[in-house]
Amino acid sequence: MSYKKLFIDLCFLINLCICKQYNNYTLYRGIPVNSTQLDFFNNLSEIYDVNFWRSPGSLYMPIDFVIRPEDKQSFLTLAEQYGIYLTTIIPDVQKSFDLQTVKSYVRRKMETFDWMHYFRLDDIYNWLRDLSRAYPTVMQLEYIGLSHEHRKIMAVKITLKGSNKRSKVIVEGGIHAREWISPAFVTYMIDQILHAPYSNDTALKEIALTYEWFFVPVMNPDGYEYTHTQDRMWRKNRNYDHYAVDLNRNFGIRFGSVGVSFNKASETYCGPQAFSEKESSAMADFVRRNSGDLEYYLAFHSYGQYIIIPYAYSKQHLDNFKEVKEMADQAGIAIAAKFKTTYNIGTAYDTVGYVTSGVSGCWVKKNFRVPYVFTFELRDNGYHGFALPPSSILPTCLETMDGLVSLLKPRTKRHRKLIGFRDRGERTVFGKIVLLCNFILFIILRFD
Ligand SMILES: *[C@@H]1O[C@H](CO)[C@@H](O)[C@H](O)[C@H]1NC(C)=O
Ligand SMILES: *[C@@H]1O[C@H](CO)[C@@H](O)[C@H](O)[C@H]1NC(C)=O
Ligand SMILES: [Zn+2]
Repeated sequence: MSYKKLFIDLCFLINLCICKQYNNYTLYRGIPVNSTQLDFFNNLSEIYDVNFWRSPGSLYMPIDFVIRPEDKQSFLTLAEQYGIYLTTIIPDVQKSFDLQTVKSYVRRKMETFDWMHYFRLDDIYNWLRDLSRAYPTVMQLEYIGLSHEHRKIMAVKITLKGSNKRSKVIVEGGIHAREWISPAFVTYMIDQILHAPYSNDTALKEIALTYEWFFVPVMNPDGYEYTHTQDRMWRKNRNYDHYAVDLNRNFGIRFGSVGVSFNKASETYCGPQAFSEKESSAMADFVRRNSGDLEYYLAFHSYGQYIIIPYAYSKQHLDNFKEVKEMADQAGIAIAAKFKTTYNIGTAYDTVGYVTSGVSGCWVKKNFRVPYVFTFELRDNGYHGFALPPSSILPTCLETMDGLVSLLKPRTKRHRKLIGFRDRGERTVFGKIVLLCNFILFIILRFD
């Protein structure tokens, strides 16, 4: 064994030691069936040091949460007083985390990267560096900013030869640190799009050639590393200046209005003001720079198997909800066709049962009138939650890719006219003039 290898192993061991252990912490599920029970769950973090994996929403919506071993007895007694029916999903959370094997990537050995293991940030980045070196004319890397701890936030651009360059797709991954399947899926998607020209899958090939692709696989690099070295259940960024912030509550859309917390210790702390965080403002700048012809914005999270349609802050179905819902329904059918994985589709309120603000996709849709914005909550539906075993990574990637090929199917003429939908939404006088000119042109051409 080389000294280098020994050193790396030693570091790995040290990391294991530092990392907070969750032995005998239990993941429970409760389903509130009356408002007192729902209040009980909403009050829970005032009584116990509880970690929600699926937050309280509406009645009958499942709530998943982790309770410390020392609180278990008192918690169970209290829950019984309220007549709450509980199921134990994972008796010992640490055991499940330990099964999430993390592999190392060896530079210039592309075959050492796979979707049967999870990878650390540097390994993901090095794999992307090697990939871009192998395909320099079609794949470029860009650093869109630095995190609070000065890690690079990497973006990948892919434009395949023979592309129509008609419009852009931006894919966001890893905004929430503990949702490891998200960066894993985004790396898979990059690999699929990049290799699509050599694929037999004509539908995949068609979408790959139709768009200009932008990926940010790990938007929250500090948080992601923190889940590998310190605390597997970490969700937010790592900002020491004020307090860690939930980046997906920090965007400038109805900031701080609903579904957020101003309590700094909360998992959904939205920050002092919109875009207070380096990661969210870097992402916003990146989207702004690429907002011309931006047609799709896709964000990947876990878990729960939902396709969530804007706007998360409203209970109503706004803008082109109906059209987008039909697209997502088709994608859901494509996903289920692979391994029978079922998805729920709708707004945040329809699916997870609560409204929330400052969400990235909502900001993108509203600000740049991007017609097709989707937030995926990937596998699973609560057997493993964030402790999704490595054997589920590849199946998740395969089915989700099928869903995306359906979702990104180039719009027909009928759909393409909905570009007018963007113009209608624009508040500028200029936008209205352009729309009017287009309309006159349409009449002239039509009756010429
Ligand atoms: C976990 O709980 C089991 C059964 O109650 C007990 O035997 C074991 O010692 C506990 N382990 C730790 C690390 O607390
Ligand atoms: C929840 O907390 C509120 C305010 O502290 C209190 O009025 C209410 O009784 C609590 N409900 C339950 C079910 O614990
Ligand atoms: Zn998330």
